[in-house]
Amino acid sequence: MRFLSLLVGMLPLASGAVISRQTTSTIFKFSSPGVSAENIAIRPSGQLLVTFMDAAQLYSIDPSTKTGTKLVTFPGFTSTAGITEVSPDVFAVVAGNYSGSGGNKAGSWAIWKVDLTGAAPKTEVVKRFADSTMFNGLTTLNNDTVLIGEGKGSVIRLSISNGSSSTAIQDASMAPPSSAPIPLGIDGVRYFNGTVYFTNIFKNTFSKVPVDATGKATGAVVPIWTNNLGDDFTFGADGSAYVAGSGKLLKVTADGKVSTAATISSPTSCAFGRGSADKGILYVTSSGSVVSVPISS
Ligand SMILES: *[C@@H]1O[C@H](CO)[C@@H](O)[C@H](O)[C@H]1NC(C)=O
Ligand SMILES: *[C@@H]1O[C@H](CO)[C@@H](O)[C@H](O)[C@H]1NC(C)=O
Ligand SMILES: *[C@@H]1O[C@H](CO)[C@@H](O)[C@H](O)[C@H]1NC(C)=O
Ligand SMILES: *[C@@H]1O[C@H](CO)[C@@H](O)[C@H](O)[C@H]1NC(C)=O
Repeated sequence: MRFLSLLVGMLPLASGAVISRQTTSTIFKFSSPGVSAENIAIRPSGQLLVTFMDAAQLYSIDPSTKTGTKLVTFPGFTSTAGITEVSPDVFAVVAGNYSGSGGNKAGSWAIWKVDLTGAAPKTEVVKRFADSTMFNGLTTLNNDTVLIGEGKGSVIRLSISNGSSSTAIQDASMAPPSSAPIPLGIDGVRYFNGTVYFTNIFKNTFSKVPVDATGKATGAVVPIWTNNLGDDFTFGADGSAYVAGSGKLLKVTADGKVSTAATISSPTSCAFGRGSADKGILYVTSSGSVVSVPISS
């Protein structure tokens, strides 16, 4: 999330502020409220789903026509954050109360299920966490289980079908530093190929930890970097991670080489297209817009 820039109120962005060494183009621009685009997921149909720190809503965007509509609202909440597909066209979404002026509301965070398999979206609260500090990142462990980044410095597993939850991993590397302005350690979290990857946004770290089928760590947390702001991220088919960083997208190859994939203003998350025409396109939430970035692997 772009907390620092919100706090400092810096960088009023002119149109065309998105720059890239590649042919980055704008897919959709949001208007307030619902301008702080936070996270993105792609439906099997190729439609983009976007969440917002400043609105408890889910937007659907058609990247081919560059049109978007509000698809779902989450009553009783002010913000949405992590989103992940749990089973085909069924998504889990983090919702809670956060505002730039009011800060974080501990105890407000919940996971919703958004089922898009029918004619109209079906939504329900899977679980409210009265003991939550702050949630942001969310990832799928298996087709019933999500992993949630919790501001106490842990990863929580949650069953979507029965709502039971427990701590999967607790580690100092996941906790916010004492200097953090809000109780957020893990920002992005993704399970990929037997490993949980996570950014700690105020520690400037990107790390990985091997896990078993229940999400429990089976080894130590290994740092990938300790000197770059990292927000949310995704993986390419070759196992490279693409991380929304400070003014850029960072690419990390499976063997750990870090490079800049694109220069982009205030990216928060990214996801690859799922169609044959756009599987090499990274859709990036950036400064109140979604932009597309062609990635040559
Ligand atoms: C979250 O904000 C909504 C809207 O202002 C409010 O109705 C709700 O009570 C808040 N939830 C918590 C847990 O404070
Ligand atoms: C989850 O996966 C199992 C086996 O891998 C399958 O039997 C089940 O139908 C799947 N459930 C959903 C909701 O897709
Ligand atoms: C909930 O589902 C999970 C599987 O996803 C299972 O391991 C757990 O035992 C179930 N808990 C309850 C209380 O049914
Ligand atoms: C998954 O991990 C295995 C080793 O644990 C590795 O051989 C394989 O290349 C990885 N797959 C991807 C897509 O990174």
